[in-house]
Amino acid sequence: MAYSETKVVLGGLAHIPIIIGFFYLIRRQYSFGAMLRTGNNALSEKVSSAPSKPAAPAKPAAPAKPAAPAKPAAPAKPAAPAKPAAPAKPAAPAKPAATAKPAAAKKPHSEVPVNTYKPKAPFTGTVTENYSALKEGAIGKVQHITFDLSGGDPEFKYVEGQSCGILAAGEDAKGKPHRPRLYSIASTRYGDNFAGNTLSLCVRQLQYEKDGETINGVCSTYLCNLSPGDKVKISGPVGKEMLLPEEEDSNIIMLATGTGIAPMRAYLRRMFEPTEIEKHNWKFKGKAWLFMGAPKTANLLYNDDFEHYKSKFPENLRYTKAISREQQNTKGGRMYIQDRVLEHADEIFNMIENPKTHIYLCGLKGMEPGIDEAMTTAAAAKGLDWAELRPKLRKAGRWHAETY
Ligand code: FAD
Ligand code: A2P
Repeated sequence: MAYSETKVVLGGLAHIPIIIGFFYLIRRQYSFGAMLRTGNNALSEKVSSAPSKPAAPAKPAAPAKPAAPAKPAAPAKPAAPAKPAAPAKPAAPAKPAATAKPAAAKKPHSEVPVNTYKPKAPFTGTVTENYSALKEGAIGKVQHITFDLSGGDPEFKYVEGQSCGILAAGEDAKGKPHRPRLYSIASTRYGDNFAGNTLSLCVRQLQYEKDGETINGVCSTYLCNLSPGDKVKISGPVGKEMLLPEEEDSNIIMLATGTGIAPMRAYLRRMFEPTEIEKHNWKFKGKAWLFMGAPKTANLLYNDDFEHYKSKFPENLRYTKAISREQQNTKGGRMYIQDRVLEHADEIFNMIENPKTHIYLCGLKGMEPGIDEAMTTAAAAKGLDWAELRPKLRKAGRWHAETY
């Protein structure tokens, strides 16, 4: 009896490794199945997260960046284990086929320069002009500033509708160089002198009151106070959102408030300035309609030029002003461009029905909801749903907005 008891116990013990092995196999099989189902390599995720627990392996990265220690999230770099999936990149040989694609479909504006000069290695331009863009009695300070761009290697080239970065001289409160601020370029690619080597901006000095003190914006104040001959660090050009269509018979609706007129000035010069027209092979044949919002008549930027274009090209240019502190809307409030949009809703939507019509919006961020509301009402009057139409226009590259 004692003999057989021992035998049973030993026999039972002998089965333990077999049972462990059996469970191990089941578990492994299960994990593999899960990996196939989810596409995640659950096994390697465990492996990678395991070393992160000791934290030690992750620490070597920490000394490099003082901020890194604060990034305990970094060890969670389980994103790395995902890399094993990369071996699956043998799909790469498929790329040669992809390289054949570009010849088929060249994106519009693919040749437009972007980031020729990065903020870390900016171009140094020289101020040639800096004058007030306002008339007597206007509110605030808005300057038209031109920079000489010649001598760049590579050359600093841009097209209408792009922006550039300005790095104000000096340092911020932490003793670091000021971060760049973006400004819409207000000149055409040929520049105000038509020589193709300058860039102009239209800058409003930011000023506001805080705790009884007047605060001046860093970069806008720096720009507005520059003198001819001053050297300025410029990055860019940037942006493809506000580019003009290439078709000469496009229709261009422009909605601008304040310095949002900058890209529109470039478009209008390209379309209607005689020397510009001589310079290029692009002859605008469509309809352009500018809606401009300003607080006072004296604040209407480039107004004389636009009036002149309108008188020369009455068939091609319409110019509608919303002068908020001199005119009233139907409700007795300040006249904003969205009120003008509503007044002309029918004509605007007739234009929008034409696939050759593009809409450009630039200036105060605050105007976007107002414009949306006006377009919603105007669209509804035509039995259209603006919430549906706007994304379609955007997708078609016909709705262009840059607000700040
Ligand atoms: P900052 O010193 O940077 O001060 C701005 C900060 O002040 C704000 O972030 C906010 O925190 C605070 N502030 C601002 N107003 C108030 C207030 N009323 N009360 C309390 N706090 C306030 N500007 C132009 O003049 N012309 C252009 O053509 C132009 N184009 C632009 C294009 C793009 C794509 C973008 C993104 C911006 C553009 N801007 C343009 C705006 C420009 O980039 C700067 O933001 C602007 O000049 C202010 O910069 P600043 O350095 O003078 O102000
Ligand atoms: P206001 O300031 O009288 O309320 P500027 O940049 O030269 O000040 O011009 C901006 C113009 O845009 C002003 O006429 C200003 O009117 C107007 N404006 C201000 N807020 C809005 C808004 N939410 N929608 C449309 N226009 C606006």
